[in-house]
Amino acid sequence: MLAQTVLPHASGLASAMAVRWLKVTDFRCYAQARMDLDGRPVVLTGENGAGKTNLLEALSFLAPGRGLRWARLSEVTRIGGGASVWSVAASLSSQQAGGVPTRISTGLLAGTAAERRTVRIGGETQSSSAALAQFLSVIWLTPDMDRLFAEGATARRGFFDRVTQGFDAGHGKRLNAYERARQERSRLLREELSGHRADPSWLDALEAAMAEHGVAIAASRCEALQRISRALEANSGPFPHALLALDGLLEDMLASTPAVDVEDNYRAILAAARRRDREAGRALEGPHRSDLLVWHGETRMPAGDCSTGQQKALLISIVLANAWLLAEGGAAPLLLLDEVVAHLDAKRRTALYDFICQLGAQAWMTGTDKSLFEAMGARAQYFTVTHGAVRDAAA
Ligand SMILES: Nc1ncnc2c1ncn2[C@@H]1O[C@H](COP(=O)(O)OP(=O)(O)OP(=O)(O)O)[C@@H](O)[C@H]1O
Ligand SMILES: [Mg+2]
Repeated sequence: MLAQTVLPHASGLASAMAVRWLKVTDFRCYAQARMDLDGRPVVLTGENGAGKTNLLEALSFLAPGRGLRWARLSEVTRIGGGASVWSVAASLSSQQAGGVPTRISTGLLAGTAAERRTVRIGGETQSSSAALAQFLSVIWLTPDMDRLFAEGATARRGFFDRVTQGFDAGHGKRLNAYERARQERSRLLREELSGHRADPSWLDALEAAMAEHGVAIAASRCEALQRISRALEANSGPFPHALLALDGLLEDMLASTPAVDVEDNYRAILAAARRRDREAGRALEGPHRSDLLVWHGETRMPAGDCSTGQQKALLISIVLANAWLLAEGGAAPLLLLDEVVAHLDAKRRTALYDFICQLGAQAWMTGTDKSLFEAMGARAQYFTVTHGAVRDAAA
């Protein structure tokens, strides 16, 4: 079984964080909803359009960023509610006896900038949502991700950066710092097209920042890739073995060159590419162009050429390997699995449920049909979702 094979050290994972209560206000279809949880995995069932994914999205705001739909923050506000604000609040505590609950709240508050959410952890207002990464990992798998291998590199890179952030809480901050320098350099170069010559020393400084942060970003991704690959190798359960690689200028250079030299090389590459990047209006090379490559371990087929079901199974493998590694490191994530089990046969569903329980993570699973969760039995807490309301349902 996957759970037995992949989790040799699972007994020490009882420190997983779990949501004890969740409150959402003016969020998507919810005027106000509250759930009280006992720490077990959670099953949400309800008709199409009932509000299941919306609850997972609310939970995804307990991680840095724009949530699992990558929505604009103002889009999340309940339409027809008359307010322009929304909030998600949760109390989290570790599964260990005596774990002290911490309250996290986030949302758009009246009078704050439209695309900036407020984050409070334990009553303290944080300067950015990045602080959430220090406290909790949230991993999600949604139907939107079914096309991850068939689409462009941006979504795959974003997915793998979230994986990397789970192992390296500073990764998100470095990505932001790199992006700021990159965009400022692009702006200066574009201005040169209209005859405004940029200060070369300012360009030097921006390129130095891009090189410094870029190399750290690529190194973190390489480290995360090695970890995930090792975890995937240990998995001989019912989900396929995924082979992963990173395709990127700096990631490639780091395989054979010390990081300090890669930093110097990239700075020189950027300086030499000013004319070309000016024409293009942006930097054509760097970690913002990297891609995650995935193959099916048994067939060696690129993931993009695998069947829909195989692609889903590869994605589940990667997500479970990620969850296992975080749990093994003492920080089991919240796992948000939206409509995942409907695609699995009975054997794989059972393996997934056993895995989740052994992991000790609070997994949140959705489906339209409660019978799909029978093998989970009393190991989960069940809720029924109807339009704008969520209520306890007996197992
Ligand atoms: N900002 C908003 N304000 C009010 N309602 C919204 C908002 N955004 C989305 N909705 C509505 O929320 C409802 C529930 O959406 P959700 O995606 O959570 O459903 P679901 O239960 O996951 O359905 P499915 O089983 O089809 O995936 C939808 O009818 C959608 O139109
Ligand atoms: Mg849904």
